[in-house]
Amino acid sequence: MEKKIVDLDWKNLGFGYIKTPWRYLSYWKNGSWDEGSMTEDNRLHISEASTALHYGQQCFEGMKAYRTKEGKIQLFRPDQNAKRMANSCKRLIMPVFPEDRFVKACQKVVAANQEFVPPYGSGASLYLRPMLIGVGDQIGVKPAPEYIFTVFCTPVGAYFKGGLSPVNFSVAEDYDRAAPHGTGAAKVGGNYAASLLPHELAKDAGYADCIYLDPATHTKIEEVGAANFFGITKNNEFVTPISPSILPSITKYSLLHLAKEYLGLKASERDCFIDRLDEFAEAGACGTAAVISPIGAIDYRGDHHVFFSETEVGPITRKLYDTMLGIQFGDIQGPEGWVVEVPLD
Ligand code: PLP
Ligand code: COI
Repeated sequence: MEKKIVDLDWKNLGFGYIKTPWRYLSYWKNGSWDEGSMTEDNRLHISEASTALHYGQQCFEGMKAYRTKEGKIQLFRPDQNAKRMANSCKRLIMPVFPEDRFVKACQKVVAANQEFVPPYGSGASLYLRPMLIGVGDQIGVKPAPEYIFTVFCTPVGAYFKGGLSPVNFSVAEDYDRAAPHGTGAAKVGGNYAASLLPHELAKDAGYADCIYLDPATHTKIEEVGAANFFGITKNNEFVTPISPSILPSITKYSLLHLAKEYLGLKASERDCFIDRLDEFAEAGACGTAAVISPIGAIDYRGDHHVFFSETEVGPITRKLYDTMLGIQFGDIQGPEGWVVEVPLD
């Protein structure tokens, strides 16, 4: 049965934690996952000797549920999050939570907290945070004896303050978020721990966040804080960096497809050199939390490089935004299988 949406200031929601009633939890022990259950307890009860706490043996995902005009609730490409979590698990020698169970757990959490899915038209959505952590009693540096897979959700608005208004970024030259053969392509907490200080320094200097360069040569753009980078060249080509140490963003792969198939642009993954910003007429950050945020300017070695404008979104970035959000909120037909409805029983 459909429930009435709770009364929150949806239009002014930031990216914060609001406790919702229900979360899903499954426990792995002796070689298998238990059947899992929903719980109202938002505290985890784990051993003080958990590998997740000491050695960062944990990974997570970020995805969103959207309310459509007709009142349906849908997820965007949850199978891709399930696959990426499986890859993160393999990188840290953790047991994979089966992909079909991952999607069902997300659907259950959304359905159980459906009154927290923001209303259509508010611009907000319900953010889901699946995570998988090493737990159990063990102090040696080796994979944990037990694991928890859990999914909680919280309603969110814009991650970058501007929304569709451009925001500016600095370039982190003294710090990397990941090493050349490290865990940059896995969604693991260590990458984010490494980003906290450069992020803080960028914020203190007045930027939305900082851009990370490739850790081996510091010449190519890798990430825009906790989002991927894209640029639109002066020849209208959609370009996004290729590197083994960036997170394979589901938003970025979706935009590559939409740029080609819906907007008729040439679209490619290739190197984006930090000293060749003038090849781009527009630039943006993309990700589940970041959505599509236009980049107004990048400051690099004394150069204040403005793309389309520091106050207006460029025309192609806007088209990509409208198409992407149109699909996510159910106004535009997406490619087969991209949108998965949440059964509300
Ligand atoms: N890059 C980083 C470092 C991220 O944390 C995220 C967020 O998930 C992304 C890129 C964007 O990935 P996605 O589009 O799958 O959310
Ligand atoms: C996401 O976009 O889902 C992220 O994980 C980014 C950040 C909030 C950690």
